[in-house]
Amino acid sequence: MKPPVLLFVSEYDAPTEWREAIAAADPGIEFRAYPEMGDPGEIDAALVWAPPAQVMAACTNLKMVSILGAGADAAIGATWLPEGVPVCRIVDDGMQRMMVAYVVHAVLAIHRDASRTMKARRERRWDYVHPRDTAERRVGVMGLGNLGGAAAKAIAMLGFPVSGWSRSPKAIPGIACFSGMDSLATFLEGCDVLVVLLPLTPETRGILDAAALAHLPEGAFVVNAGRGALLDEAALEAEIRSGRIAGATLDVFQEEPLPEGHPFWDLEEVMITPHHASVPNPMTAAPQVAANVRRAVAGEPLLNVIDPSRGY
Ligand SMILES: NC(=O)c1ccc[n+]([C@@H]2O[C@H](COP(=O)([O-])OP(=O)(O)OC[C@H]3O[C@@H](n4cnc5c(N)ncnc54)[C@H](OP(=O)(O)O)[C@@H]3O)[C@@H](O)[C@H]2O)c1
Repeated sequence: MKPPVLLFVSEYDAPTEWREAIAAADPGIEFRAYPEMGDPGEIDAALVWAPPAQVMAACTNLKMVSILGAGADAAIGATWLPEGVPVCRIVDDGMQRMMVAYVVHAVLAIHRDASRTMKARRERRWDYVHPRDTAERRVGVMGLGNLGGAAAKAIAMLGFPVSGWSRSPKAIPGIACFSGMDSLATFLEGCDVLVVLLPLTPETRGILDAAALAHLPEGAFVVNAGRGALLDEAALEAEIRSGRIAGATLDVFQEEPLPEGHPFWDLEEVMITPHHASVPNPMTAAPQVAANVRRAVAGEPLLNVIDPSRGY
């Protein structure tokens, strides 16, 4: 019997690391890295980020696509996704740790006013500001899934009062949990720092519009590491320019890379990071990809499969 064949296609991820990690997870899987794809009809599964449509269309026996990331928005409805092929995402401890580190860093930098300290240091000024206890700043996390749930717990461990918002009701010890659109305004009203870790779906696109941002308390901060299109960038800019929202740490944008003339570049209150909050770690993520290749070939249920009707 021929070994299952996994095609790797990404401009952003290292094929060598993935080749080694897949071989370590399951040496019986044949790994091919695009453009060396051999006979496309032999390919059973694909591990991809933004692949060319014609490459995917050539894989006429494709049984599963695994996205090189946690967000499925780039795949759902994408022109490159062959009809009827299920999409899986990566749910990985390494990726979760990386996102938790990003969020904790962002929240602490806001809480300790790191940009003010660094500015004073550059200007050789001793700029004493009395520090505040973490218990005095409320942090709210939108999205309590694999990444948001872990980030919320890590922030709570630092002593911040933490709330969270999700689609379905949750009970997480130490986190005040809200769910559904009816509770969104109340949730936002209690966020001195709002951390956004929602997936981008038809329901969440543009969810942080001017009306939603207006519910944040005076002097609040926004941290968005979910997707750029969750947030109305012009509305956030207006809130920051007016001084009502104190600042933002943004890893994701409606257009990436952030265009040269974008107003955020002129706002010192906006910390810009280049969509680098978290990526899959090949060594920790490869076992689930390898298991899904086997499952797809055997016609068994897949792990971490996206529900196209929910969009995540
Ligand atoms: N910046 C980066 O480098 C980076 C890296 C990785 C991922 N991401 C982004 O992070 C997102 C979250 O990843 P994840 O692995 O944590 O996803 P996940 O496990 O699927 O969790 C998604 C969370 O969002 C909630 N949610 C979805 N739709 C909602 C709605 N309409 N209203 C309220 N809550 C809603 C879900 O609610 P339920 O719990 O009720 O289902 C769940 O709690 C990804 O989709 C991706 O866009 C960014």
